[in-house]
Amino acid sequence: MMTFQGNHILSVSQLDRESITRILDVSAKMVPYSTRQKRCYVLEGAILSSLFFEPSTRTRISFGTAFNLLGGFVRETVGEENSSLSKGESLFDTAQVISGYSDIIAMRHPKMHSVAEFAQGSSVPVINGGDGANEHPTQALLDLFTIQSEMQHFGKNLDNLNITLMGDLKHGRTVHSLSKLLSLYKNMSITMVSPDALRMPDSVLSILDDAGHKIIQTDKLEGNLSSDVVYQTRIQQERFASSGEADLYRGHFSLNKQVYQDYCKKNTVIMHPLPRDSRPEANELDNDLNDLQHLAIFRQAQNGVLVRMALFALALGVENKLTDYEKPITWHTTK
Ligand code: NCD
Repeated sequence: MMTFQGNHILSVSQLDRESITRILDVSAKMVPYSTRQKRCYVLEGAILSSLFFEPSTRTRISFGTAFNLLGGFVRETVGEENSSLSKGESLFDTAQVISGYSDIIAMRHPKMHSVAEFAQGSSVPVINGGDGANEHPTQALLDLFTIQSEMQHFGKNLDNLNITLMGDLKHGRTVHSLSKLLSLYKNMSITMVSPDALRMPDSVLSILDDAGHKIIQTDKLEGNLSSDVVYQTRIQQERFASSGEADLYRGHFSLNKQVYQDYCKKNTVIMHPLPRDSRPEANELDNDLNDLQHLAIFRQAQNGVLVRMALFALALGVENKLTDYEKPITWHTTK
């Protein structure tokens, strides 16, 4: 099992099944705080530096919310143009300085492996919030937490699942990290639906293959959605040489109620890391799915708070002290 306390979380490759179980178990303990039944102040006085050098809504806000829900403070910088990286400072130097101001750091950056490079200069744990097309470990963990909790309703666990990954599998870091995590479970059948030019990289395929899982690669949605989970993704326009090139692939796999009825199973769970591209030319997940009980996308995003709380607690060594630092909620809440 991975030692969490004091360590960076840069890649899902650091994790074995036991470590993942630990993270998911600690995540479940965070429910009373995220649903405002109680407050927890176990990280009172601690400082998270949240450095987002690439666009983000839910990852950035949920990292901050997670830290606040454990009683900590959040310092934030957004956009490379607003930081000294734009003055030519190295990631190493930025890390040396910011880690002196903080107890832990969450970081997103457009370049592959940049967060690991940054971590070499940091004296405090660094959590990867996405490094270019490479990895997005916290997303994959919240995806796994979501798959586990959605499958529980059908008496299933994380083994023996059929999962369809769909969209831009070449550039999508969430599906790279998620596939690596799924490889650790038993008897998986993974169907990868993408345009031919946007197939899953061989480096990720070989991990699933070496683990003995069944992989189907196809450019057709028809006949490939009768899985336990269909995980839709966005064409990652920011990773293409030009927006014209990204336009070629938008809207190939639009999923709406009719497609769901025609090709999914009765209880197929629909996931998406979000943001879903809702422009008419893309319409990855149509709004007519919004009232579908098995559309898990907003539960999935909410689970991000739980998983990020768990990672902070584990990295700062307070995961067994939560209940010693609780207070009642004093304000009106609708949760
Ligand atoms: C994803 C990302 O940034 O990789 N978003 C997220 O963190 N939930 C997916 C995407 O942007 O398409």
